[in-house]
Amino acid sequence: MTAWEKLEADLLKASRTWLVTGAAGFIGSNIVETLLNLGQEVVGLDNFATGNKGNLDEVKERVGRSRWKEFKFIRGDIRELNTCRRACRGIDFVSHQAALGSVPRSIEDPLIANACNVTGFVNMLAAARDARVKRFVYASSSAIYGDEPALPKVEDRIGRPLSPYAVTKYVNELYADAFARCYGIETVGLRYFNVFGPRQDPDGPYAAVIPRWIAAMMKREPVRINGDGETSRDFCYVDNAVQMNLLAATTNNPRAINRVYNVACNERTSLNQLFAMLRERLLPHYPHLRKYKPVYGPFRAGDVRHSQADIARARRLMGYAPAHRIDQGLDAALDWYRNNLV
Ligand SMILES: NC(=O)c1ccc[n+]([C@@H]2O[C@H](COP(=O)([O-])OP(=O)(O)OC[C@H]3O[C@@H](n4cnc5c(N)ncnc54)[C@H](O)[C@@H]3O)[C@@H](O)[C@H]2O)c1
Repeated sequence: MTAWEKLEADLLKASRTWLVTGAAGFIGSNIVETLLNLGQEVVGLDNFATGNKGNLDEVKERVGRSRWKEFKFIRGDIRELNTCRRACRGIDFVSHQAALGSVPRSIEDPLIANACNVTGFVNMLAAARDARVKRFVYASSSAIYGDEPALPKVEDRIGRPLSPYAVTKYVNELYADAFARCYGIETVGLRYFNVFGPRQDPDGPYAAVIPRWIAAMMKREPVRINGDGETSRDFCYVDNAVQMNLLAATTNNPRAINRVYNVACNERTSLNQLFAMLRERLLPHYPHLRKYKPVYGPFRAGDVRHSQADIARARRLMGYAPAHRIDQGLDAALDWYRNNLV
């Protein structure tokens, strides 16, 4: 039995109360869905800055009415300390996902990125500390590796941040460490690497590559690659990220706590390879893709060239075992993409 299977069985036997911030977003709504399916009580907090009610409606439909009764939603902003305090009342575990994602968005507007991702983060940490939650798990990012060239990325070797977004996530890790030392709160940081899957937003200038490209392919619009297409990423299916959140919140291994972890698959896929994988999956349904080619443009400021996670720490200390590699994740999400992205 894997650590994840054991945890699923344990959670089904005992309900705890979880706060998921960013609950109306992509990763947050997937965490909410899994927790409700495992019989947990869940409070969601979100201000709908980039998430939306439709994501929660979809979760409601998928988990069914009786499980949905265990969900309470607070529409609010983590930049307000009182909102964070209200959300943390009676909570066992916090999974803090709320933040403004995207490197280019943070380059456009570093002040709002700082307000949400740093001030909002410290508000949440302080509120969680005062409510004496059992553990505070939070979303960090592979952007932290910045200009460190070594591959695969190992948690203790980071470079200089290349964007305001990367700075905010690095500061999150520093604050979590300081709060653990000064106040004894237990924290775990998760450095996600290009997460993808159902409910990831395909629209807008800051959309992630996989839903944006799939939507473009289905709508016969051009797929634009920033650079030569040999830029590579460790694409991580969202279920793997959900698994890590739950393992991190509940592990009893004292050596696993107050650390940061890479969350991905330890694989590297270039954008050219990704284009081919998506095209191959969509082609049977969209014959117009037979002669489809990407359009190459300039490299994007702040982007790192290659990214690949070493996941040995997560395997060793948490028993993390990614259940989906990129191809399995694309297969699992294909129906959702086809039904929702046009
Ligand atoms: N998706 C990825 O590949 C990826 C990679 C690395 C890190 N992350 C991090 O994971 C977390 C979740 O990302 P996601 O992809 O689900 O993004 P998302 O935009 O879908 O979700 C973020 C949610 O946070 C909410 N939010 C933003 N600012 C808020 C505020 N001030 N108060 C309350 N709610 C607020 C948004 O409305 C949204 O629902 C973020 O912290 C992000 O930085 C994501």
